[in-house]
Amino acid sequence: MSLKNDRFLKALLREDVDVTPVWMMRQAGRYLPEYREIRKQAGDFMTLCQTPQLACEVTLQPLRRYAFDAAILFSDILTIPDAMGQGLYFSEGEGPKFRKVIRSAKDVEQLPDVNIASELSYVTDAVSLIRKELNGSVPLIGFSGSPWTLATYMIEGGGSKDFRIAKQFMYDNPEAMHQLLEKLASAVSDYLNAQIRAGAQAVQIFDTWGGILTPASYQEFSLAYMNKIIARLLPENEGRKVPVIVFTKNGGQWLESIADSGCHAVGLDWTTDIGTARNRIGDRVALQGNMDPTMLYASAEAIRKEVASILQSFGKGNGHVFNLGHGITPEVSPDNVAVFVEAVHEFSHQYHG
Ligand code: CP3
Repeated sequence: MSLKNDRFLKALLREDVDVTPVWMMRQAGRYLPEYREIRKQAGDFMTLCQTPQLACEVTLQPLRRYAFDAAILFSDILTIPDAMGQGLYFSEGEGPKFRKVIRSAKDVEQLPDVNIASELSYVTDAVSLIRKELNGSVPLIGFSGSPWTLATYMIEGGGSKDFRIAKQFMYDNPEAMHQLLEKLASAVSDYLNAQIRAGAQAVQIFDTWGGILTPASYQEFSLAYMNKIIARLLPENEGRKVPVIVFTKNGGQWLESIADSGCHAVGLDWTTDIGTARNRIGDRVALQGNMDPTMLYASAEAIRKEVASILQSFGKGNGHVFNLGHGITPEVSPDNVAVFVEAVHEFSHQYHG
């Protein structure tokens, strides 16, 4: 079936579009009252992820309100470690936690070889259902965490402020760390390919914690594994290219090497000027970003001004997907999201055609 709105996929491939496409990291989530309602009915977050009808419903919720140019699968990056037997749970107010943690080379060796694609069939079932319900309106994005980002949660046993345990493991046991990252890279490749086969039309790798590494360890422990994954991904499906977006939060220093990963687009957080990023790498890949998510707490006037300024900084021509520099936070007013999305479409005409 042909897509009614394919400007998101076109922009990722640096093809011409009429206006700059926009979507938002975490566009389905707690800032929406209708999300909180379904979440309450489901009881807990993992039930929401593991029930394809519910995952599909919350994926579509933001698209009913706003003119987003893409949908993103509702799931979580931590489904992979969960499928590996680590026992993911969410404790109220504390974020994700694991019952089992990785603290030694032996723990890494004992990580089971699971068939990720079949273990996570609830995700691919959700992808198929969402594609059916989208009915060709906008493309669907699949995603995964990067091996490094997943490893930090698996070693720490949850989120962390300073990643002391994960970093100590990397510094003291680099071989075991590489073995863990190798296993994760293989799982992530299988998982993303399963999402692509089920109907994901682009994929994003979330390297949320790559930016806490030194330049040398970023290359060795994070980027190297994303490169391997990208090389293994299905380049196309349903007769169309499947673009890959790499988002390393705080990766602004390493844009050139991220652009060389084989990805089609580099996700930018708000600490890099998008015009500068375009001068550095924009002749090779598309750019996605990068409004400070905290800007969504400001007035409509301030939001519109900031959108205009980011569009102007990128300038004329193709290769820009508008997004926030990281996920939207729960306390944002849904009205401000409407201001944001409308401003991107309204102000971007002048930069195209
Ligand atoms: O973007 C989307 O709308 C798709 C859904 C999505 C979620 N998590 C839903 C979610 C995506 C793409 C993710 C990715 C994810 N999950 C990342 C990488 C992206 C990023 O933000 O850097 C990370 C690090 C996680 C791990 C994770 N999952 C955390 C830290 C939390 C707790 C967040 C919190 O504020 O409590 C989650 C839970 C989670 N994932 C929620 C949602 C909507 C909130 C759960 C709830 O409803 O209580």
